[in-house]
Amino acid sequence: MKDYLIYFAQAYPNFRRAELESLAHYHGINIDLSHHSETSPFLIVQLENDEQARKIMERSVLSRGIYELWGQGNTLEELHQSVKDNDNGKFELYNKSSFKFDFIGYMGRRNNKQKFEMIESFQFLAFEGPIRMKNPDEVYTILEEYEVMDREKATTPIKMWFGREIQLSARCNNVLDKYDLKSRKYIGTTSFDAELALVTCNIAEVGPKKIVYDPFTGTGSFLVAASNYGGLTIGSDIDVRILRGKGDVNIKSNFKQYGTTTEFLDILTMDFTNNAFRQDFFIDTIVCDPPYGVREGLKVCGAKNEEKAAGRENVVINGEKAHLRRDFIQPKKPYELSNLLDDLLKFSASRLPVNGRLAFWMPTANDDFEINQIPQHENLELLYNLEQEFNKWSRRLLVYVKRDEDYKGVTKNGLKENNIKNFRDRYFRGFSEKSK
Ligand SMILES: C[S@@+](CC[C@H](N)C(=O)[O-])C[C@H]1O[C@@H](n2cnc3c(N)ncnc32)[C@H](O)[C@@H]1O
Repeated sequence: MKDYLIYFAQAYPNFRRAELESLAHYHGINIDLSHHSETSPFLIVQLENDEQARKIMERSVLSRGIYELWGQGNTLEELHQSVKDNDNGKFELYNKSSFKFDFIGYMGRRNNKQKFEMIESFQFLAFEGPIRMKNPDEVYTILEEYEVMDREKATTPIKMWFGREIQLSARCNNVLDKYDLKSRKYIGTTSFDAELALVTCNIAEVGPKKIVYDPFTGTGSFLVAASNYGGLTIGSDIDVRILRGKGDVNIKSNFKQYGTTTEFLDILTMDFTNNAFRQDFFIDTIVCDPPYGVREGLKVCGAKNEEKAAGRENVVINGEKAHLRRDFIQPKKPYELSNLLDDLLKFSASRLPVNGRLAFWMPTANDDFEINQIPQHENLELLYNLEQEFNKWSRRLLVYVKRDEDYKGVTKNGLKENNIKNFRDRYFRGFSEKSK
């Protein structure tokens, strides 16, 4: 095993570990992330080789890069000594390669003169290869952590690392610019932030040739994010207008914009609670953002008053039963989010393959959240409960994995007894009173 240094981005630190763990698991790589601290962007991990490092970093959104660790220290002298002590023939191995130096400063940085002096101080590496600023064979990176926030005053780093760059992340290769909602052609009020949609797909282990289903597609934010990782995507939504878009600006045109049309399977108008997929239709992964019922109350197909509706079944228009005509508009009835989430778990438990993942977002009020509000199904193990906190409420990314028949969890839904049906009311009242 060798030491590698991971440098994280300063975004959603509480999601980092789940993302990397999932990427490692997806590639069948063992990695111990137990030393990860949300307060530090640096983490040393042990991996077998560069190939493993490349695999876990390539798709990462919350990391910046991974480096083969050559040395570390609290001062430049200590860093030099550590690099020399850990040589083990490495200097010789890269002696003829073209190279350049790079600098990463956390909470501080060096000016060009200091950088030049630093590079000079590593002459003992005795590299004979040419210096190449564009596409060198190797990039040697000096990573430094400074103590103070004020960049002007941060002149002395408190910790330094020297590493050979192995892989920069998807983030550093501009995945966020590419999927930014500001430049996406078809968006709506429900479009989901690109960064977290991509992270969701990483934690859900979306991958090439995997069928990814979003049952609440909306404008298709999760579908395009999944297609970025090669997922074959299919979506459904109760609202035909949102799926259709406007003219030729729609979900499909977004796939075209991103060059992932081959990953688009289809979208269909369907009430999730009356799911019409064939029982043997294969789904690997489910990712979604269910309707919270905040903008408008949650509704599903069905009649409020069953008796009255049954009476209307005999209405005939132009010789055709009204409810069988193409222009028939389904009646809708109110529904509880807790029931919808139950339906989602039940559907996932019956349709996902063993080890298939379900990842969805759920809103919770911060002042009366209790862990038992997280719905559970006996065949699904809850892997992650990751919170994105706003002022008075949060949304949580809940990630489950389907287990085999030896696994026996519990089926429960604390939302039913609890506050979630009041979430909408409380949201509009600014969470001023507690739910009963
Ligand atoms: C929070 S939005 C999801 C938005 C989506 N992630 C996007 O990128 O635009 C929830 C979606 O669920 C849909 N929806 C509401 N009730 C539904 C139901 N019973 N079955 C299927 N979709 C439903 C709404 O039309 C809405 O588009």
